Amino acid sequence: MTRIFTSIACILFIVACGNNTPPDAAGTQSESTQPTDITMHPDYEPGLALVVANDCYNCHKVEDNMIGPPYQEIAKKYAGDAAAMDMLAEKIMTGGSGNWVVDTVMTPHPTVTKEDAVKIVKYIMLLKE
Ligand code: HEC
Repeated sequence: MTRIFTSIACILFIVACGNNTPPDAAGTQSESTQPTDITMHPDYEPGLALVVANDCYNCHKVEDNMIGPPYQEIAKKYAGDAAAMDMLAEKIMTGGSGNWVVDTVMTPHPTVTKEDAVKIVKYIMLLKE
């Protein structure tokens, strides 16, 4: 009986170690964490902190409509559109309307610098999934 347990323990040990071989682990990890866990992305934290520090969540939610369009929809609309990134950063600073069918105008954010606005846009673009 003890022999069987020892063999099982040995097999489990080998299997566990087999899964941990460095080249495989490194390869699969970066592939699996990038698309699924956006919070690990370097652009996530800085942008989120700025959104929280400003009044953005008074009018925006990530997935649902509020006064402004959901960030997820904004990310989908402009995905892959490099030129839009600059326009969006400018719009965060100066406010405006016309790109979404909503009744309200986005208020300007004069205290947000261009550098910070770009960080916010990068964060929003991560939310497209
Ligand atoms: C007073 C409510 C309000 C606040 C506060 C607000 N927004 Fe908006 N936001 C809107 C509305 C309304 C729109 C849709 C504008 C349009 O139709 O072009 C919008 C649109 C946007 C867009 C898409 C712009 C476009 O042209 O497609 C982004 C990006 C955005 N907001 C980011 C932010 C960020 C970041 C903040 C915080 C710094 C913020 N918003 C604060 C109401 C708001």
